Amino acid sequence: MAIIANSYDEVISLIKDRLDIVDVVSQYVVLKKSGANYWGLCPFHNDKKPSMSVSPSRGIYKCFSCGAAGDALNFLIKIQNREFKDVIQELAEKFDIELPKKYHASSETKNHKKEMTDACKKAAKFYNMLLKSSEDSNKAMIYLKSRDITDEIINNFTLGWAPNKYDSLYKELKKEFSDDILEKAGLILKSNSGGWIDRFRNRIIIPIQNENGEYVAFGARVVDEGQNPKYLNSSDSLIYNKSKILFGLYSAQDAIKNEDGVIIMEGYFDVISAQAHGVKNAVASCGTALTPEHVKLLSRYTKSRRIFLSFDTDNAGINATKKGSSVIKETLSVLGNVKQFDESHISSSVDNKYACEIRVVSPPQGKDPDEFIRSMGGDEFKKYIENAPLLIDFLLNNILQGKNSAKSPQEKAELVEKIIEILKDVNNKIIQTEYVKMVSGVLDIDENAMLKELSKFEEREEYVYRAKNTEKHVTNSSQFEIKAQKNLLSVFFANDSSLTYSQINELLPDNIIQDESLIIVKNTIDKMACTINNVKELIKNLYTEFIEDDNLTQILTEIIELSEAFNGLTSDEFENAVRENIVRLKRCYQEKENNTLRQKYKEVNDDEIEALKIQMQLRDKIKLRTGD
Ligand code: UTP
Ligand code: MN
Repeated sequence: MAIIANSYDEVISLIKDRLDIVDVVSQYVVLKKSGANYWGLCPFHNDKKPSMSVSPSRGIYKCFSCGAAGDALNFLIKIQNREFKDVIQELAEKFDIELPKKYHASSETKNHKKEMTDACKKAAKFYNMLLKSSEDSNKAMIYLKSRDITDEIINNFTLGWAPNKYDSLYKELKKEFSDDILEKAGLILKSNSGGWIDRFRNRIIIPIQNENGEYVAFGARVVDEGQNPKYLNSSDSLIYNKSKILFGLYSAQDAIKNEDGVIIMEGYFDVISAQAHGVKNAVASCGTALTPEHVKLLSRYTKSRRIFLSFDTDNAGINATKKGSSVIKETLSVLGNVKQFDESHISSSVDNKYACEIRVVSPPQGKDPDEFIRSMGGDEFKKYIENAPLLIDFLLNNILQGKNSAKSPQEKAELVEKIIEILKDVNNKIIQTEYVKMVSGVLDIDENAMLKELSKFEEREEYVYRAKNTEKHVTNSSQFEIKAQKNLLSVFFANDSSLTYSQINELLPDNIIQDESLIIVKNTIDKMACTINNVKELIKNLYTEFIEDDNLTQILTEIIELSEAFNGLTSDEFENAVRENIVRLKRCYQEKENNTLRQKYKEVNDDEIEALKIQMQLRDKIKLRTGD
């Protein structure tokens, strides 16, 4: 029997009640008990010794090295690198938790979606039938055959033909679907004269399925020369979001899992040829650049996140490779470093040691994977996959290819600069030095000079980094102040405190919390305190509130941990500890204010009257504090 929840928040709450932090983390990390807590290697960075602690009593995890922290649900969302709503939906199904009908993602929307995918499926089948039977489909057939698209491939991908007529599809589908649904699904358009006409006409139709195999959109290619654009794609709709859907993923998913790797190509026909010739783990984005959502989607299928980029071999393709790889790196950077050194000959089981592995498949013949595979065969392409260089090697190689035209010292220096741009991201110094050795050999330049250039570059970056951080320090309160404020907030989470929320709140002076993030935490506690009266519930609800904010989740975890210090105190001791904290924090703020005044005094030194005023203010402040 399904459990019925009354709200979305209750669904989350019920899920949380069913998640045990130790069980959850153990699925991904080997945990060892030590005292009240468990310890293991942190899966969110390249951990050498166990830095992640799991507290079963508090239901939280925290890495002391990289700072990753949160509750069990947060751990699952982070490690699966997925949208939280998707994770929650899956867990709700697993635990058989349901929302009452009235809360359902409005059942109307749900019905609409179902009708829209039904309409798209019918359309795909209809177009497919027309490819074989309509009067003007012959030229499409001839074109497809010229691209080695067999009948078998046509059927496997449900390829079709939209005739050069205004309403072939509309006439067929209006028997079963409303105009509204057909329009929402992107199949028909309002014509100038006010009637409905087919959106796709005189084009080869390539249906796009989502990962569940439902038909959600279409790509449509011209056959006639001079007709534009080359591909007309469905716009985004209730059932189609092109940033989240990859062409070919439905038929590729098993292969991606089995081979623990995915090949990303540029075009529909690249994927069609690849899959048809036995390269089954190929996908492509649909008329858009690779997005973080695409990357997250793929990392659910390949555990080691091995991604092969196989774009066109022209300049546009190389740029797409660079762009695509930075999207991948950025999206997965929470998981650690990208693989930068090929050690596969040393050990074959390096699963999950890296955030991801990016390789570039760039065969010399043909301008794109489609042409290569058709002329050389799938097996030949697989050889290129097996020997595909890591992204870093591909990029270096690409630059070094210009070495023969770089003769003058200036030209060589320019090449070196481009290379340094790539090598600066290599974290391991030994590997980095090896690359420098290799490159300087190839370019016939002094190895030490290159190392010097590299360290100059790194110093510059370090400088920029530090400059940014000092800026932060000036605008935010000092570390100590923040710690003291966290300490104060942690009072709300003390397990066995005899004080109620409002009693604690009364102890805290106005404006004692000044850090921006901590103000948010405090306000959220205030908001919840009216309806929640135990610490466990409060913690649970706060995590839910911050579910989409990693920073607040980490801060919350830290505050909860700090609360340990208040356990086991008598109520007098408790109050004293709170007061002590407040006094110290106030002293801090005072000191800061004095410093600002002193600073002002220095600045206005010339203007004597102004200076005098400030000096008096300063004296009064000091008097007030010391009480003389
Ligand atoms: P290309 O122009 O490289 O085409 O576009 P292609 O894949 O080689 O196409 P064929 O082989 O000549 O048929 C690559 C991809 O960019 C998108 C499509 O997804 C296409 O597969 N694209 C291209 C569009 O969406 N619209 C266009 O007009 C062109
Ligand atoms: Mn092509």
